[in-house]
Formats: sequence, C-alpha cells, structure tokens
Amino acid sequence: MWSGRHVVLGVSGGIACYKSCYLARHLTEAGARVDVVLTRSAAEFVRPVTFEALTGRPVMASLWDRDAALSHVRWGQQADVVIVAPATAHLIARMAQGLADDALTSVLLAATAPVLLAPAMNDEMFAHPQTQVNLALLERRGVTVVGPAIGPLAEGPSSRPGRMSEPAAIAAHAARLLRRGSRLEGKRVVVTAGPTREAIDPVRVVTNRSSGKMGYRLAEVAWERGADVQLISGPVMLEPPVGVQVTRIDSTAELEQAVREALPAADILVMAAAPADYRPREFSASKRSRIDGALAIPFEPTADILRATRDARRAESIIVGFALETGDALAKGRQKLERKELDLIVVNDALEPGAGTEVDTNRVAILGRDGSSTIVPLGTKREVAEAILDAVEARLG
Ligand SMILES: Cc1cc2nc3c(=O)[nH]c(=O)nc-3n(C[C@H](O)[C@H](O)[C@H](O)COP(=O)(O)O)c2cc1C
Repeated sequence: MWSGRHVVLGVSGGIACYKSCYLARHLTEAGARVDVVLTRSAAEFVRPVTFEALTGRPVMASLWDRDAALSHVRWGQQADVVIVAPATAHLIARMAQGLADDALTSVLLAATAPVLLAPAMNDEMFAHPQTQVNLALLERRGVTVVGPAIGPLAEGPSSRPGRMSEPAAIAAHAARLLRRGSRLEGKRVVVTAGPTREAIDPVRVVTNRSSGKMGYRLAEVAWERGADVQLISGPVMLEPPVGVQVTRIDSTAELEQAVREALPAADILVMAAAPADYRPREFSASKRSRIDGALAIPFEPTADILRATRDARRAESIIVGFALETGDALAKGRQKLERKELDLIVVNDALEPGAGTEVDTNRVAILGRDGSSTIVPLGTKREVAEAILDAVEARLG
C-alpha cells in the first residue's frame, strides 16, 4: 500500500515527538518515501539527524536550510499525503490563521495534497475553546483530524482527550485518506473471523485452528478502502484493526445470531470465520471428571450460517464465503458456491504449504457465481485480502 508513496511528515514541538520517530520508521519500512519537516521546537525534542537516519532522507528544519528554498513550496504539492504528528496547539493555531512563518507552516499553506493532523497536547489545552475553534475551521477546510486519544499524558493520568493517537492508527487513517475513491467507500461491510468454541463443560471447549488472521486483514483493508466495517470475531488474540467496530462471539449459535442481526444493513458480507460444524449434544453444568477408558461425547450439527444468510440477505448485497478444504479444493468450492447461493467463494487448501489456518500467508482461488475464477498466488494474508476485495469491487461495477 505504501510502496512508492511520497509522505511529508511534519513534526511540531510536543513531547509526543518521540512517537513520530516510530511513525517515520513504520512508513519508511512499508516502502514510502518520507520527507520530514521539523519546527524549531520539534528539533529541541528530537534532533533532525534522528529522522534523517530513520528515513534515509534529508530533513527540513528551517526555511533557511540550504535545500529549503523551493522544497518548502513543492513538498506539499508533490506529496501523496501530508501528516502532521504531533500537531501542537501552537501549530494548529498558526495553521488556522494561515501563517507561514517557518518551514512546516509554509509547506502546509502551499500544500495541495490531503493533510492529516494528529493533535497532541495537555487536555486543558485541547479543550480550550480557541483550540476547538481552530480545529473545527481546519476540518471545514478539508483537513482530516485523527485523535487525540484519551490516556496518560506526560504530566500524569488523564481521562480526557489530549494524548497523540498511536503511530499505527495514524498510518491507517493516512492509508484510508490515500485510498479515497474506492468503490467500497461508504459501503457497509461485515466480516466474520476466527474460530468458534462449543462448550463441553464449564472449562472445556471444542474448537479449531483458525487464527482469525485472514478475516482481520480483510476488515483492515475494507476499512482502508473507505468502508464502514463491522468485524464479528471469534476468540482470537489479534489486535482489532483501526476504525473497525468489533463484535465478539464465542459459539456458532452466537455467530449466527450476530450475522442475522448485521445482514439487513450489510452491503457486503465476507465470511472468513471457521465456525464449528458440530457441538456436544449436552452441556455438562459441572466439570466432567476423568474416567477410565475411552470417552464418547455425542455431537449434533450446529446451525449452517451460510444457509441462514440466504434467508436474511438483501437481494442486492454481495455474500462471500470461504471454503477450506483438504484436497480437491476447487471442485468442492464450486459446489459450495452453487449450493449456498454465494456470489463469490474463496477456496483454499489446508494441505498446501503456506495456506489455510494459523499461518500469515495464503494461496487461494476466488470463484464467482458468474463462472469467473481468479488464482491468487502465495502471498501475505493482507495481499490476499486486497485481491478478494478487488473481486468484490469488480462485482459492485
Ligand atoms: C517539555 C515540553 C512539552 C511540551 N509538550 C507539548 C505538547 O504535547 N503539545 C503542545 O501543543 N505543546 C507542547 N509544548 C509547548 C510547545 O513546545 C510550544 O507551544 C511551542 O511553541 C510549539 O511550537 P511549534 O508548534 O512551532 O512546534 C511543550 C513544551 C515543553 C517544554
């Protein structure tokens, strides 16, 4: 996503400057060219050489730097996005007034690229009516404001906004800004992810090896493409993607209920969860004791969620299923696509190296109801998520 992109990262003088180093590094490692502009105060917190080493690029810290003569106008015009993190109260005030009294405010005044601000300041400074008026004015002019978050400030605990959003959240918002114009923009996308658990007794469950990684990456990419995303997640240890509304479920019955509730508003439903097909017929209210010899527990089928979608779906919504098979995956996937009346099915073979559950990569085929078939070669689950959402967008026309 960031490969070949040009980011101008403005840094003004707040204690959160240290987090900008992580942001600069994160974007550089992701493949972006990152040009950093520091205010004089920012350079008191972190010296330009730190950003130069992190980005491998010269840093602009003054209008009177040797190379700043034209860069202070051009950078904001050549960039794909301008991010200011942290944006101090002072920087926000100067920007709202249209001042151009240093390198960063000059870049901002001349910028034609989309601008994203990540304010960071003492909570009283942020709540001050003048700061609020300044930010509202900038937002009306098209600036995107991310945060501030609620959390501990350098001076101590706080329960009000002031703390700068985390670098990963700022990068995700910048990615969403860059991807404006996608066909998923404004669409309601519901993604299911992870395993379900069927309880045997209060301490034991039957589950499967699904890690949730495929569904989480799908939710992340759909949000970046401008969608309004609900992620219905089974029990996994993954960090929720930025911007995504997460609904936690445990059993297949809970998953079915959540999908039924989400479907009427959904434009697109992507079912990457691995619900259990069977559950113990009886739940033992107390822990089963160990017995001598073999244990037999009768199982009964759980609800078929894909079938449930057939009743509750809107005719114009797009339903994407997954088929994880172990051998003969394409043929089985095509049958499931027809049987369950899906629009697309993503087929993968758990026996292929690098594909299926638990791993960070996948290799899939995307089959369409219209007979289309796209082979997505082995790639990260994020790359596969991009390919699946490309196929969804193609169906949106
Ligand atoms: C230790 C220290 C921490 C500061 N942290 C912040 C901050 O988090 N947010 C803020 O708006 N100002 C903060 N300030 C005040 C700014 O540095 C000051 O307003 C400065 O004029 C900002 O200049 P600039 O916006 O051009 O970078 C801090 C000052 C000091 C000395």
